[in-house]
This record gives sequence, C-alpha cells and structure tokens, in this order.
Amino acid sequence: MKLLLLGKGGQVGWELQRSLAPLGEVVALDFDSTDFHADFSRPEQLAETVLKVRPDVVVNSAAHTAVDKAESEPEFARKLNATSPGVVAQAAQQIGALMVHYSTDYVFDGSGNKPWLEDDLTAPLSVYGSTKLEGELLVARHCARHLIFRTSWVYAARGGNFAKTMLRLAKERDRLTVIDDQFGAPTGAELLADVTAHAIRATVADPGKAGLYHLVAGGETSWNGYARFVLAQAQAAGVELKASPEAVDAVPTSAFPTPAVRPHNSRLNTDKLQATFGLKLPHWQAGVARMLAETL
Ligand SMILES: NC(=O)c1ccc[n+]([C@@H]2O[C@H](COP(=O)([O-])OP(=O)(O)OC[C@H]3O[C@@H](n4cnc5c(N)ncnc54)[C@H](OP(=O)(O)O)[C@@H]3O)[C@@H](O)[C@H]2O)c1
Repeated sequence: MKLLLLGKGGQVGWELQRSLAPLGEVVALDFDSTDFHADFSRPEQLAETVLKVRPDVVVNSAAHTAVDKAESEPEFARKLNATSPGVVAQAAQQIGALMVHYSTDYVFDGSGNKPWLEDDLTAPLSVYGSTKLEGELLVARHCARHLIFRTSWVYAARGGNFAKTMLRLAKERDRLTVIDDQFGAPTGAELLADVTAHAIRATVADPGKAGLYHLVAGGETSWNGYARFVLAQAQAAGVELKASPEAVDAVPTSAFPTPAVRPHNSRLNTDKLQATFGLKLPHWQAGVARMLAETL
C-alpha cells in the first residue's frame, strides 16, 4: 500500500509518520517540502501532488489550528481548513484513493452536557470551527471513500502542550487559576495515529466502514481537572512544585476572554467508532500519564 501523509510535522502528523510506516510506503510532506508541493495555502498545487504520488490512501493532518488567530484571518484559515482539503479530496477521488481527514468538536456549539453524536446538529462558534466544518463537508462530498475523525483537546509529547505549561507555572507560582466549565477528553496524538492506522486497514478491506467518526480518549474532565491530574502525577514522580493540585483554583471561562469562543461541552460520543472498528478507547488519564512519564 502507498500512503501520502500531508502535514507530517504537526502533533498528529509526527505520530502518523510512526503509525503508518508498517502499512506500506509512506510519502510524508509538509508545507515546505521541495520534492512535492504540499503547501495548503496554495490549493492549486495540492491536486498535482496527489496525482503525481498516486497513493492508495491520503492522510491529511495539516490544518490552521491557531484558534484565536483564525478570528483575524478567516480567509487564510478557510483556505487551509476547507478549500485545500476539498481539493485534495477531489484528487483522491480521481485516483480512487481513500482519504483520511481530521476535524474537531468545535463544529458544535457546546450546549448541553451530553456527548455529541456524529449526526447531531452542527453550529460552530468560531472561524476555526466553521472552516473545519466546511472542510469536513467538502471532503465527504468530493471523496466517496473517506474517514473523517472529529477529535478534541489534542496533546503530544513533542513540542509544547497544556500539561507542560501547567507544570512550568506550578514550579513558578503558589497558586494556579484554571477554568472548570469546559468539558472534554484530552486525546493523545499517539492514540489518534494508532487508531487511524487500524481504521485504514479495516476500511481498505471493507469500504463500507468509510464515514465520519468521533475519536477521543475515554472519560471526561475539565481543564481544571486536567491541570490537577498533571500536578498530582508530577508530585507522585517526585517533581518539586510550588503549587499542589489543591492549589489549582477553578474559574469560569469568562475569567479568560479570548477572541474565539470555545464550546463548553466538547464531549464526543465514540460508540460508533468503537463498534465499527472493534476498538476500545483507553481513558484519557492513561495517555496523559504516559506522556508525562516520557517528558518529566
Ligand atoms: N490540536 C487540537 O487540540 C485539535 C483538536 C481537535 C481537532 N484537531 C485537528 O486535528 C488535526 C491535527 O491537529 P494537530 O494538533 O496535529 O495540529 P498542529 O500540530 O497544529 O499541526 C498542523 C500541521 O499543519 C501544518 N501547516 C500549517 N500551515 C500549513 C500550510 N500552509 N500548508 C501545509 N501545512 C501547514 C503545520 O505546520 P507548522 O507547524 O510548521 O505550522 C502542522 O504541521 C487537525 O485537523 C486539527 O484541526 C486538533
């Protein structure tokens, strides 16, 4: 099998380079690749790349993920999150490839407290959310054989992340203030990449499995609960902190105004994915503890 990976340097892209390797030959590209063009700000070049590489599977993990910045550059965000994925999907369809794409819980308005189902009504609150929704729709419309995974609160061991920021702050300050009215599941890039590889194999064997899926780690927490868990793990590992888990004060989202509105309810129901692919998604604490064990 030949796979084309777009956005290889991102959190998920980096892990996909590992998880896709056993499936076959992987051509992995980023926006500054020179052998083939893979700059999502230049959609016209992407089709040419797909047609030249002629993969069996295209996996797109490139995106405009700067949620607040997107509010001030909506057209650029739209190009990266919607127009370009749509172009890639058209080219994938032309060569009969399976296309894998990622989306977000930000396609929902965050109301209520029930985990969202795949066919629940979408109503994005931000430019990021609306451009990602448009991207989903274009990929689904243009490439019949697609896998779209909506996920949330992605972290990776590589680069900066929320857990590392909390640890740094807890070493500098006696108390932290973290919001406690947004709920979701921190989801590791490793888990996303591993499940993607399983799902590709299963969908190549049975194209009936193509479709839209929610993919997040099990369980749920708030950003405040997430921060407390991180500090407790660090303490247990003997890391010296000024702020203990009990010193993480809870505040509402309104305490930290941001340009982009975030959904309060980011819970995603993953029953469809688990049933279709025969997988069991581990609880979020397992992945975060593992990432911390690697980085502490
Ligand atoms: N991060 C989250 O919390 C989260 C939550 C829900 C869904 N998702 C979705 O999950 C997917 C993967 O996200 P991630 O966390 O891995 O994001 P990420 O780390 O920000 O990776 C995005 C990748 O896209 C690349 N990119 C930026 N501009 C580009 C361009 N013009 N052309 C080509 N590539 C470009 C980035 O390159 P540079 O790093 O060099 O800019 C980076 O490699 C995305 O579809 C995202 O929307 C993420």
